[in-house]
Amino acid sequence: MKKGQSLLHDRTRDAQGRPIAYLRLSVTDRCNCRCAYCMPAAGVPMLAHDDICSFEELARITAACCELGVRKVRLTGGEPLVRRGLPDLVRMLREVPGVEELALTTNATLLAPVAAELAAAGLDRVNVSLDSLRPERYARLTRGGRLPDALAGIEAALAAGLGPLKLNCVLMGGVNDDEVADVAGIARERPVDVRFIELMPIGEAARWSRSRFVPAEAVLAALPELEPVAGSGRDGVAELFSAPGWAGRVGLIRPMSHRFCAGCTRIRVTADGRLKPCLHSADEVSLRGLEGGALREAILAAIALKPAHHGMDGAHASESARAMNEIGG
Ligand code: 5AD
Ligand code: SF4
Repeated sequence: MKKGQSLLHDRTRDAQGRPIAYLRLSVTDRCNCRCAYCMPAAGVPMLAHDDICSFEELARITAACCELGVRKVRLTGGEPLVRRGLPDLVRMLREVPGVEELALTTNATLLAPVAAELAAAGLDRVNVSLDSLRPERYARLTRGGRLPDALAGIEAALAAGLGPLKLNCVLMGGVNDDEVADVAGIARERPVDVRFIELMPIGEAARWSRSRFVPAEAVLAALPELEPVAGSGRDGVAELFSAPGWAGRVGLIRPMSHRFCAGCTRIRVTADGRLKPCLHSADEVSLRGLEGGALREAILAAIALKPAHHGMDGAHASESARAMNEIGG
């Protein structure tokens, strides 16, 4: 269903009164990379094939979430493009009543050959994770990813109309913070949003030294020409900046220094069909095998568990029992 069609139900609100509008659906816990902050070098135990939701289950869960008010759906992983037949899932979700926006988060290294097919299947937009523009560093950070593949994926996404494109760069002190101006420079030349994300102490990064957690304020220090954009100045959780003559914008996503939980409208479903009301809480509600009213009731029960905010700070890591590759960020 496209924009403009009538809402099916009033939007569901959580205990804090926040409307739930946005579903992040993990389609696999597998990935063709092993980003240092996400997975250990040796890899992690993977879900068995039978534990992963079928496309039919994912469509059923999405439909139930939309009946409760969700309008935006994002496919995540692991790396969603390692799941075979992803364009088929896109076609199925495009038919779900209530889905107004269908997006994908990807490392883009597998995107170039399928970008046009995904767009034709009904995908609206992609967000691309890109933590370095230096080929050797990119390979080291992703433990095997090839920067030229990611850049080809980005170009293919733009050519296929999968925009407005957002590039996400996780800031890591002493690792890639010397590249802020270079990565942001993409937005100088191209009409994309380059978003810098503060590293969160979840998964592998929960064990990292505090020195790697740099506030996104560092981006504004590195690029003093940036000014807040007019209007609301935001896009979802990103605070937007730009400068005269730039084709695109720079976004700051500051979960640590400027907690944005009060405006959170998201729920997440893991590849094995468990609804997580918050990325950082250990609460999960299994949706496996449920249909109709029972499925809606389970989703509502999970939404009721959504905490007011995360408890991460300099001393406390995420309470999520899962690694990032199982949730999809
Ligand atoms: N902190 C911040 N962002 C993270 N991501 C993965 N792990 C972390 C972390 N510890 C991001 C990835 C990707 C998205 C899926 O989640 O960079 O953009
Ligand atoms: Fe894969 Fe994304 Fe995790 Fe990197 S952050 S290992 S690309 S799932």
